[in-house]
Amino acid sequence: MQPDQQFLRIPGPTPVPPSVQRAMNQPMIGHRDQETKDLLHRIKPKLKPVFGTEQDVLIIAGSGTAGLETAVVNAVHPGDEVLVIVTGAFGDRFVQICNEHQIETHRFDIEWGEAVKPELIADYLRQHTGIKAVFATFCETSTGVLNPVKELADVIHKQSDALFIVDGVSAIGGADVKMDDWGIDILITGSQKAMMLPPGLTFAVVSERAWQVIETNDRPSFYFNLTKYRKQLENDATPFTPAVSLLFGLKQVLALFEEEGLDTVFARHERMKNMTRAAFRALNIPLLTTDQAASPTVTAVRPDDFDPDALRNELKKEFNMTVAGGQQHLKGHIFRIGHMGYCSPADILQVIGIIEVALNKIGKTVKLGTGVGAAQEMMLSGGI
Ligand SMILES: Cc1ncc(COP(=O)(O)O)c(C=O)c1O
Repeated sequence: MQPDQQFLRIPGPTPVPPSVQRAMNQPMIGHRDQETKDLLHRIKPKLKPVFGTEQDVLIIAGSGTAGLETAVVNAVHPGDEVLVIVTGAFGDRFVQICNEHQIETHRFDIEWGEAVKPELIADYLRQHTGIKAVFATFCETSTGVLNPVKELADVIHKQSDALFIVDGVSAIGGADVKMDDWGIDILITGSQKAMMLPPGLTFAVVSERAWQVIETNDRPSFYFNLTKYRKQLENDATPFTPAVSLLFGLKQVLALFEEEGLDTVFARHERMKNMTRAAFRALNIPLLTTDQAASPTVTAVRPDDFDPDALRNELKKEFNMTVAGGQQHLKGHIFRIGHMGYCSPADILQVIGIIEVALNKIGKTVKLGTGVGAAQEMMLSGGI
């Protein structure tokens, strides 16, 4: 093991491409100077296709949770009732944020590892007509589920006037999304996942419908006030000091997306998902989710005859490879492999190959090459 060689395969933060790292090394510039305005001016149009929107993408310095809280405090008026779909730890986070702000919150729990069925939400909205906003998680990072956001938007808008607010933190940049066409009202993401940047930025996009609600909301928020970000971005600026170095990096990330082509980026993520799943199937090690519910950005594995944390410890100790464990009640029961952002099918062969060695070392005997071979077959067949 080389001491400074990291194999970072958690679902965020993710590895940063060398060209992005270099871009972030540029000398600092004045945050109110023309150079920063030029930077934002160039970034603005190129961010839109990543979110599938014609709206400006607002950039806020803060982690993904800052984006989630921004959505809550701007879009929910005092006294409003909201519905939060909880498919794992990050749906649960939306509930915690709403509780913190004393919002009347309906919590709709789905078994962890499953995706929400849109018809259940249609039924719920039919029975609870006062709901003003529905919150959902696109990729539920804690389980590796990709929720059917497009179908959810359909039923929510058919059944109610509620805003549809989506946490896309571990999906955007790795999974296709058409915010405007699908009818998402607020879409949030963070920088440190499929956006290939270090942690520190959160992004928020707001539909026209949602702006109407936000503009009449007098809920006090100084830093997370979306109308301030919108007004400033119209002049290629931010209301508070932007994370300038991350903006340098973001410009380069968008150049990489453009060079590869967004469709190719999304197809690469599908391929990595399919290779990972094929490998564990061949190894006879159960996956947490069905193929239909599986996210292209993270895969959760639920072994039934070895301790996932023993595997994770071995991977870290022997190979400096990090995969994630389970959260809340799945702690000690699953491990999760992130395959998003600066990650390619070749990296999947490496992860699986190293996991096979580590499994044998912790006493779970597998025939070496079984998972790698299945992943290679998938790769060779195109992987989709
Ligand atoms: C789906 C999802 N939402 C929200 C967050 C929270 O983001 P942060 O840790 O950047 O605050 C994460 C982070 O893992 C996430 O995966």
